[in-house]
Amino acid sequence: MAVNRSVIRGVGAYLPKRIMTNDDFSRIVETTDEWITERTGIKQRHIAADDELTSDLGIAAARQALVRSGIDPVDIDLVICATATPDRTFPATAVRIQAGLGITKGAAFDIQAVCSGFVYAMTTADNFLKTGLFKRAIVVGAETFSRILDWSDRGTCVLFGDGAGAVVLEAQPQHGTREDRGILSTLIRSDGRYEDLLYVDGGPGSTKTTGHLRMNGREVFRHAIQKISGVIEETLVMTGYTPDEIDLYVPHQANQRILDGIAKRLGVDPKKIMTTLAKHGNTSAASIPLALNQAFEEHRLAEGNLVLMEAMGGGFTWGAVLARW
Ligand code: UT7
Repeated sequence: MAVNRSVIRGVGAYLPKRIMTNDDFSRIVETTDEWITERTGIKQRHIAADDELTSDLGIAAARQALVRSGIDPVDIDLVICATATPDRTFPATAVRIQAGLGITKGAAFDIQAVCSGFVYAMTTADNFLKTGLFKRAIVVGAETFSRILDWSDRGTCVLFGDGAGAVVLEAQPQHGTREDRGILSTLIRSDGRYEDLLYVDGGPGSTKTTGHLRMNGREVFRHAIQKISGVIEETLVMTGYTPDEIDLYVPHQANQRILDGIAKRLGVDPKKIMTTLAKHGNTSAASIPLALNQAFEEHRLAEGNLVLMEAMGGGFTWGAVLARW
């Protein structure tokens, strides 16, 4: 049966110029390069300039994705931005990205699912494209987490970085089988009972301030391995693929030990798991499209490859998207 599939036509990314190394952190808080490297795999992260906003990062990433897709911005009718660090409380950062790209038709809105934001945004875009309501979408993950960090808390400030990634999706008629190109399955979950383990202690409706990120790292770590492994397993059951048949896993990048733990639990060859932690740190909603972009630039994505993207973040929220490149 013919169906519409959301085919990934292009991917792009942007990282701010300024880099902070682990040694830079050892001059701010009581930490060492050795501790950060061993406990997380992170060596450096990019930090946005004072005059660089989340939308600026998102626009740069989207422009690159558009060029690579060969699609004219005027033919885009949906812009979704996954971010927990919007430029302003409103309007949506997606609307600013839409304007920056010169797009004046269709719809643009933000998705707030923190580190799972990109998976949520891809799921949302896919549903609009499958139903035919929109034809071509830009899905952006863009963050400036440096703005919501408590720079005196060594347990969190060393973990995060800024950046953006984007993909261009196009609805294309396919056969309706698992051999199709494009997004083959999506799965999103949330459970608000875990809010206190990872949150920002401010907001316009509560403190009227932006607030700072707070995390119980050890507990989040435990849940991350369980929940991410869980959605990978569910996706494989839903689509009938084995872990070996997936060509590339592109997970949210929070901690190298989480990625190693998932690989071990599912029996996946670690070489099949994209990792950008050493260079980017945790960029929340931007981490999956940044890793996807790196995979593309390293020629690790060929047409027909199966790519599994998965994440967990504040809320808790979590989910997975399986796509054929
Ligand atoms: O993206 C959203 C999802 N986020 C995540 O998935 C993050 C999940 N959590 C983690 O990645 C890890 O839990 C962390 C990297 C945050 C922490 O690693 P850990 O092995 O769980 O360490 P811990 O929190 O249990 O802390 C161990 C020790 C503590 O000292 P004591 O209490 O044992 O004396 C911390 O105070 O390490 C200390 N510590 C540090 N030491 C040096 C915490 N941060 C640092 C630091 N440098 N930066």
